[in-house]
Amino acid sequence: METFKRHRRLRSSDYMRDLVRENHLSLDDLIYPMFVKEEGQTEEITSMPGIYQYTLPDFAKELDEVVALGIKAIILFGIPAHKDEEGTGAYNDEGIIQQATRLVKKNHPELLVVADTCMCEYTSHGHCGVIKHQDVDNDASLKLLAQTAVSQAKAGADIIAPSNAMDGFVLTIREALNEAGFSEVPIMSYAVKYASSFYGPFREAADSTPKFGNRKTYQMDPANSREAMRELVSDIEEGADMFIIKPSMAFLDVVNEAKHYTNAPIVCYNVSGEYSMVKAAAQNGWIDEKRVIEETLVGMKRAGADLIITYFAKDVANMIHGGQ
Ligand code: PBG
Ligand code: ZN
Repeated sequence: METFKRHRRLRSSDYMRDLVRENHLSLDDLIYPMFVKEEGQTEEITSMPGIYQYTLPDFAKELDEVVALGIKAIILFGIPAHKDEEGTGAYNDEGIIQQATRLVKKNHPELLVVADTCMCEYTSHGHCGVIKHQDVDNDASLKLLAQTAVSQAKAGADIIAPSNAMDGFVLTIREALNEAGFSEVPIMSYAVKYASSFYGPFREAADSTPKFGNRKTYQMDPANSREAMRELVSDIEEGADMFIIKPSMAFLDVVNEAKHYTNAPIVCYNVSGEYSMVKAAAQNGWIDEKRVIEETLVGMKRAGADLIITYFAKDVANMIHGGQ
């Protein structure tokens, strides 16, 4: 009865399409990245229109707006006043992220703070750990990373998100958190993190471009998906609670495949370069910005993302409130 098939029956009106829609965007599932600086003035990031590096007082004001928009979680990145070889600003209890986290917990205790746990914003060389023989030393970096996570948890972070891509980071952090009395704080691991050119604008935003070399000895080769599953499996075994895949748009096959390996939440990181491309095209009038944002993020949901970390979170909130 091939001839009676009419796929268009279920597309006949807005209400009909709403009725059969399979995936939805909700503010419940979005995490908004924010940059906080220790010194200087609040500044817009040139390559990321609408995204700022905030001083603490301006960050406090912006938080009020973010909360009023209905955003329920943020992920924090810090720009310290001073950098050094050992990235001490990352695990200093008075560091910028620790201060910012305490401020959130004081003003908006219910807002979830995800702490990005890495060292590249704090090291003078810009790498994600400490250097030995011109490369990042895995185990020495793990120790400092664990200290960073504990310091962030002490400041009130609700979720620890290690992103430095060292082997064994989940287990090391889990042990350190438990020992410090934070056995209930979940770890959202950057389990699958590619060495990607889509991070370009972020490195301007976080002032974290490596001064020599690149991150290819610790971040993954974009050509590989079976290796991604090996990374995922080791973080599952080490006890991570949620798993980030990053970047997103060029890697949705990996997101989809990850669903076969775990029932735990999968997180898409819709990274800086993905944001900048859309904003740039929109500013030129070449695309319909709102529709493209919606299509991009719902595509991540369709691929299997449970949560999305996205610089578009405020845009989405405005769309939801504005009805368009
Ligand atoms: C720190 C970190 C990076 C991003 C998130 N955490 C940069 C990097 O690894 O170079 C990228 C986020 C983005 O591009 O939006 N390790
Ligand atoms: Zn890093």
